[in-house]
Amino acid sequence: MTTVRLNSADPVSIDTDALIVGFRSGQEGPRAATGAETLDAAFGGKLSASLAAVAFSGKAGEVAKLPTFGAIAAPLLVAVGLGDSTDLEGLRRAAGAAVRSLAGTARAALALPADSPQEAEAVALGGLLGAYAFSRYRTNGEQKAPVSELTVVSGQPENVAARAGVLAEAVTLVRDLVNTPPSDLWPAKFAEIAEQVGVKAGLSVEVLDDKQLKDGGYGGLIGVGQGSANPPRLVRLSYSHPEAAKTLAFVGKGITFDSGGLSLKPSASMDWMKSDMGGAGAVFGALVGIARLGLPVNAVGYLCLAENLPSGTAQRPSDVLHSYSGKTVEVLDTDAEGRLVLMDGIARAAEDNPDVIVDVATLTGAQIVALGWRTAGVMSNDDAVRELVVEVAGTAGEGAWGMPLPEELRKGLDSPIADIANLQPERWGSMLAAGIFLKEFVPDGVRWAHIDMAGPAFNKGEPHGYTPKGGTGAITRTLIGLAERHASI
Ligand code: BES
Ligand code: MN
Ligand code: ZN
Repeated sequence: MTTVRLNSADPVSIDTDALIVGFRSGQEGPRAATGAETLDAAFGGKLSASLAAVAFSGKAGEVAKLPTFGAIAAPLLVAVGLGDSTDLEGLRRAAGAAVRSLAGTARAALALPADSPQEAEAVALGGLLGAYAFSRYRTNGEQKAPVSELTVVSGQPENVAARAGVLAEAVTLVRDLVNTPPSDLWPAKFAEIAEQVGVKAGLSVEVLDDKQLKDGGYGGLIGVGQGSANPPRLVRLSYSHPEAAKTLAFVGKGITFDSGGLSLKPSASMDWMKSDMGGAGAVFGALVGIARLGLPVNAVGYLCLAENLPSGTAQRPSDVLHSYSGKTVEVLDTDAEGRLVLMDGIARAAEDNPDVIVDVATLTGAQIVALGWRTAGVMSNDDAVRELVVEVAGTAGEGAWGMPLPEELRKGLDSPIADIANLQPERWGSMLAAGIFLKEFVPDGVRWAHIDMAGPAFNKGEPHGYTPKGGTGAITRTLIGLAERHASI
């Protein structure tokens, strides 16, 4: 794991392998941003012109590298574009893109605008998140190691870096789990990791195995998991603080592989379905982060873990499940399995009497149709809760947008024989219909939000900003941010 510390020295004299400097795009070429004041003089006033000569304009995400020929202590100068962004997410992204471009370099210093604690934290966090690599399965040593030591040039106190470190560690934990192939991450294995890492972070951890789930009436987890030789698990992680006034409950979809079950997916939609546990990953990472930060709040997290495979023991379309809430559910499509494990997790979470329940899931392809790869859909039975989740996600720089739960969609989920069906007959509005389904399992009077992050959980495209290819760790920081908003002061 990459380390970060703060240093208030003049960036010109910092002993490091690469010095990262921010630029804004101006009319007459790139303009040095705050933090870079002393550099231009060190380069004889020619820095902006030299960067313009290598076609660097200061646009957001742009990275250019110049050898320094002894003009400053660092042998390499890395210019990164901030564009015209002045917000914290612009800083996180620039820091992430610059650090990512330095894979193979041991040490880097970031001289980006960092005059406030928030800015210094954003630079540290972006840098740490940009220094991610998943190399566990590489044997040829060709992949360059990420930067291992970061210095943020800032006069802010050192605890700013510590907080960034906790957030980055939580996100890294989630990215690693999402990237791990399902051959090495099945429900019991995930539960074991959650127990080990969770206990170490100070969480209480309880794991229900398949026998306990069956005896306990968790029909959804059992139904989805019964086609696999790797049986389901429900993990309960809890964190409490003596001064806490509020309790949050997080519920994560943890399908360690989603083949669709007997309603089998086409191959092209299946190869990245190892990421279908990203919701449980985010809940797990958030609980670990909340515990490490020692937030004055109570938090419980449920990881609804199952592997959705077809076999002679798999559930069939037309089977009826007895959910933990007591409601019966007709399974019309075994590929709409996320809502079946979440319905049990949500009903169980309500028993903790939380002030709010937030579930997180890679739930529907329709989320991607509606909002694209980078924006999660947020639905709720309470307008204020939905707005809070969207606002907190925005502050964290995680894309999220409020979506409605139109009551008229409920009748599409009528089943001829059970209380509800898991699928509406038409595809239009499927993200919302999934939300309407889940809402049926939230007891009256309980405030609840549902985050569908099918797109944001996994980056199939090229890396950007601090986001790598593959598992992104999306929504982990939003959940930690929600806990911070509910912390007593
Ligand atoms: N895990 C998928 C949703 C998904 C799709 C996540 C693409 C990430 C990327 C989910 O279990 C699923 O299969 N949903 C179906 C539901 C449908 C059968 C109602 C879908 O969205 O097609
Ligand atoms: Mn599915
Ligand atoms: Zn799924």
